[in-house]
Amino acid sequence: MNAVPSQHQRVLSGMRPTGRLHLGHYHGVLKNWIKLQHEYDCFFFVADWHALTTHYDEPQNINAHVWEMVIDWLAAGVNPNAAKLFIQSKVPEHAELHVLLSMCTPLGWLERVPSYKDQQEKLKERDLATYGFLGYPLLQSADILIYKAGMVPVGEDQVAHVELTREVARRFNFLYGREPDFEEKAEAAIKGMGKKNAKLYRELRRRYQEEGDEAGLREGQALVDGNANLSLGDRDRLFGYLEGGGRVILPEPQALLTKASKMPGLDGQKMSKSYHNTIALRDDPKDVAQRLRTMPTDPARVRRNDPGDPANCPVWQLHEVYSDDEVKAWVQEGCKAASIGCLDCKQPVVDAVLTELSPIQERAREYAENAHLVRSIIAEGSEAARDVARDTMDEVREVMGISYR
Ligand code: TRP
Ligand code: SF4
Repeated sequence: MNAVPSQHQRVLSGMRPTGRLHLGHYHGVLKNWIKLQHEYDCFFFVADWHALTTHYDEPQNINAHVWEMVIDWLAAGVNPNAAKLFIQSKVPEHAELHVLLSMCTPLGWLERVPSYKDQQEKLKERDLATYGFLGYPLLQSADILIYKAGMVPVGEDQVAHVELTREVARRFNFLYGREPDFEEKAEAAIKGMGKKNAKLYRELRRRYQEEGDEAGLREGQALVDGNANLSLGDRDRLFGYLEGGGRVILPEPQALLTKASKMPGLDGQKMSKSYHNTIALRDDPKDVAQRLRTMPTDPARVRRNDPGDPANCPVWQLHEVYSDDEVKAWVQEGCKAASIGCLDCKQPVVDAVLTELSPIQERAREYAENAHLVRSIIAEGSEAARDVARDTMDEVREVMGISYR
């Protein structure tokens, strides 16, 4: 990675505090975060304000849920030395950006976000006709834009929110990135890059604008990113000038689609708390083994010598996640020929799940016994995130005319 963390290399993602996590979260989201943390400048946070948008009437669980979830992140291998881990409300600048973005975001954009009506329908028992709930995706936009994140790993259900974020950023830059003397300022900034880089910048800009060469654009962005001498304002101008527009104060992020977790639950449906079919990362191993041994199998196998078909069996889906080809061939043959019993068949899955959980549970115990350490990891991550957020807000206030220096 560059010595200067590049904003296009920055990854941001958040999770609402739902308490202890399960294997679905681990295989779907956390393993992805753990991979990304070594490749990019990562910011991962607990979206506690987002939890309040739907659960404002039961705030008593939030605190415990936040800490349980953070412990599970750490236990799973999210590394506070590689990624910044923080809590949304510990960086109040998110709220400031949210209110400022709300000034220029058309109401219709929020009303049209699909999750707005969907969730209101789905969560009928809650009154979600609130100002905060309508603003949910805009708060998410503020979460993303305040770090100028280039990539946002999310599931399918969140893609519309990243799309909205792009539109909000575009509008913001259009409204506040135009300066009467933009070209002169951009030209002066180019000179500030040094002779060699200035020449290269001009060449890359020409390649992109005249020839539509995307690689030229990316190289140009990297060149600007890597130049530590530029002021924040000049960086934005040079990003904007590359593409031909005005100053890019808030860059548009990309969604990094997280493949839907293939992790099946104990009944063969997707693993989810609402289906009561989960294996939580900190469930007792004896209990986990017991629940795997009693999980349903192909209903055709009533007796030991009735043949079955793995295609009709939720246990097979677990083999798909955990077993190698050899074990899978053994299952296919043994099931169809009734040469193995279902308990025999489940044993390799039991072993694999317990082997996977064991180091996670060991680390979770350590963190759970050391609340002080967990608090200080979050305090440090929140401070580091805040430094970045403060810089963005200085710029945002300036272009919106409220910096009063
Ligand atoms: N809305 C996201 C979810 O429910 C959580 C979230 C809040 C988020 N802010 C974010 C995700 C910013 C990515 C980026 O999963
Ligand atoms: Fe399912 Fe395995 Fe039993 Fe076949 S042998 S029904 S795959 S548990």
